[in-house]
Amino acid sequence: MTNPPASASRLDLAHRPRRNRKAEWARRLVRERVLTTDDLIWPLFLIEGEKSRVPVAAMPGVDRVSVDEAVREAERAVRLDIPAIAFFPYTEPHLKDEHGTEAYNETNLVCRACRAIKKEFPDLGLVADVALDPYTSHGHDGLVRERGDDLTILNDETVAALVRQALNQARAGADVIAPSDMMDGRVGAIREGLDAEGFLDVQILAYAAKYASAFYGPFRDALGSKGALKGDKRTYQMDPANGDEALREVALDLEEGADMVMVKPGLPYLDIIRRVKDAFGFPTFAYQVSGEYAMIMAAAQNGWIDGDKAMMESLIAFKRAGADGVLTYFAPRAAEKLKRG
Ligand code: PBG
Repeated sequence: MTNPPASASRLDLAHRPRRNRKAEWARRLVRERVLTTDDLIWPLFLIEGEKSRVPVAAMPGVDRVSVDEAVREAERAVRLDIPAIAFFPYTEPHLKDEHGTEAYNETNLVCRACRAIKKEFPDLGLVADVALDPYTSHGHDGLVRERGDDLTILNDETVAALVRQALNQARAGADVIAPSDMMDGRVGAIREGLDAEGFLDVQILAYAAKYASAFYGPFRDALGSKGALKGDKRTYQMDPANGDEALREVALDLEEGADMVMVKPGLPYLDIIRRVKDAFGFPTFAYQVSGEYAMIMAAAQNGWIDGDKAMMESLIAFKRAGADGVLTYFAPRAAEKLKRG
């Protein structure tokens, strides 16, 4: 091609960044980040029953599934090359109590799902969340003391309970224990508990910087913990205004033995992901939470944005920010898209 004729309006530029964007092959050459199925962890909601799937109202495309259906979802994960899935149980109201006793039941939903899936798909990573909120009548992640209207979430008593919960999950075959409760000292205590029982290879993925966020709304609906929740979680989850504090939280969890850390929610906290990755260089995950999923899906269903494109753009944003992987409800859909190319 010959150059267009010089004109008076031509700028004398040393750099024209658009050159590297002129064609798809050129854009591919200079692309800095790629998203692959290796980057995905798929969170699954569990319910009682058989052959049962119950849609989550505010999360179009996401169902709560019974254990047998979860095994089918696991098969799908394996087929799509998704390395790991994470479990969140919807606990029947009559099984909830003040202490979250069901968390220690060795045949609770999470334990049954772990056993059933490990048996059929031993090479799929299983992530078990540690926190009492799916099991407590008050909806908090820890044990509470109530004095009149005053509700205190007890730290040290809760840590002991979380160790019991973690061991129950490890015995059922969980590969990764993911404490999402934000109690102080829980990572060290869980590590010690796991090691004492010989679970030296069970990893800890610490929700190290977890914020008190409005974006968890649809998740709490999915678990049935929303109506139950008394007050809020601001005495243990972080203030969205704080960034330096996230680095201190991550430092503590790593000192206590976390193998991987997580920042949660995702998109509103990309700056935190970048800072955590730069400061520590440890495997760092982002949780694209239920409310983030709901926003993209709602806008897409209204025809206001292109859902597939917004999904992929949001996921590559995590990679760009420094995340090694993302927990996302989009996991199967994104993996299918990546496979199709
Ligand atoms: C609770 C927990 C929450 C999520 C994961 N584990 C909610 C909360 O802290 O209230 C949120 C996930 C999501 O919104 O997708 N321990």
